Amino acid sequence: MNRVLLSSWFHDCKSVPLSHVQPPESRPHTVVASGNSIPVVDLGALDHAQTLTHLLKASHDFGFFHVINHGVSKELMDDIMNIFKEFHGMPAEEKLRESSRDPNGNVCKLYTSREKNNKDFVQFWRDTFKQLCPPSGQFIEYWPQNPPNYREVVAKYVEEMRRVGNKILELLCEGLGLDPKYCCGELSDNPLLIANHYPPCPEPSLTLGASKHRDPTLVTILLQQNDISALHVLKDGEWIDVHPIPYAFVVNIGLMFQIISNGRVMGAEHRVVTNAGTARTTVAYFVCPTNEKIVEPAKPLTMSGAPPMYKSIRYEEFMKIFLTKGADIEPLLLL
Ligand code: OGA
Ligand code: NI
Repeated sequence: MNRVLLSSWFHDCKSVPLSHVQPPESRPHTVVASGNSIPVVDLGALDHAQTLTHLLKASHDFGFFHVINHGVSKELMDDIMNIFKEFHGMPAEEKLRESSRDPNGNVCKLYTSREKNNKDFVQFWRDTFKQLCPPSGQFIEYWPQNPPNYREVVAKYVEEMRRVGNKILELLCEGLGLDPKYCCGELSDNPLLIANHYPPCPEPSLTLGASKHRDPTLVTILLQQNDISALHVLKDGEWIDVHPIPYAFVVNIGLMFQIISNGRVMGAEHRVVTNAGTARTTVAYFVCPTNEKIVEPAKPLTMSGAPPMYKSIRYEEFMKIFLTKGADIEPLLLL
């Protein structure tokens, strides 16, 4: 049997293997279960000025918010969730075959739990599938063909994510006093679609689905299952449960927008816990710059007594460091 993916062997486990046991200080003990305190941003609201204020406050205070009235149909949200549940439910050999149509291996990747390229690092209770989905429509021929309607549903979904992502970035930029289109083009033209799969875990108190991190994105748009709470955000030193609101998206600010905003808004630190009862699947749309793009604090935000806080960095260079340093990258970004 193929042992590369967690989903192939977790059935055999009565306890969490040592490779996946977190050190005591990282284990998920304390959670302040106050799902209602994560702000909800209504993208369909009529009062534009109020939406801007609300969005900026949510981004500043939490770096996390739910988005409602986003215009994506419930049917498409159900379809994409079902596609990825089905995908992760296929036999390992088939998933791996569907993920490796690109001869260069760049377009899709299916892997387990690895956040740092280091075998000694504690592993996470998760399999992840990730694929490039540029707005040019390039690479579709390398996307999976199974489940059978994969390409059709995913293409529709990423088009909708691009629309919602652009809208959120336009509002954020406008709210910060930048040109609303500031993040259009190379700053956001290299999106990724990531489907995480967290199998049920025999001992959820010992392990994590994802450790504390900030995303390497401008913003992330996450679809969670409607019924399982597992995502936590760190606010003022306490973990808060981001309890799903059915058919809302969860949006978080990433490190790239933290740099662009010159620290006016911060990437939110978050983690994922596991549960003993049910598998959980999430679909994340990562809004990312092209590899060659230099990311730096927006010039209008580095004047009038607010010098740049962050270095200018090529996105590809940033990603190289991010993949080895993970959550420890932040001091390296500061000027
Ligand atoms: C991520 C992430 C959250 C989740 O993919 O970066 O934080 O609940 N996902 O899957
Ligand atoms: Ni994340």
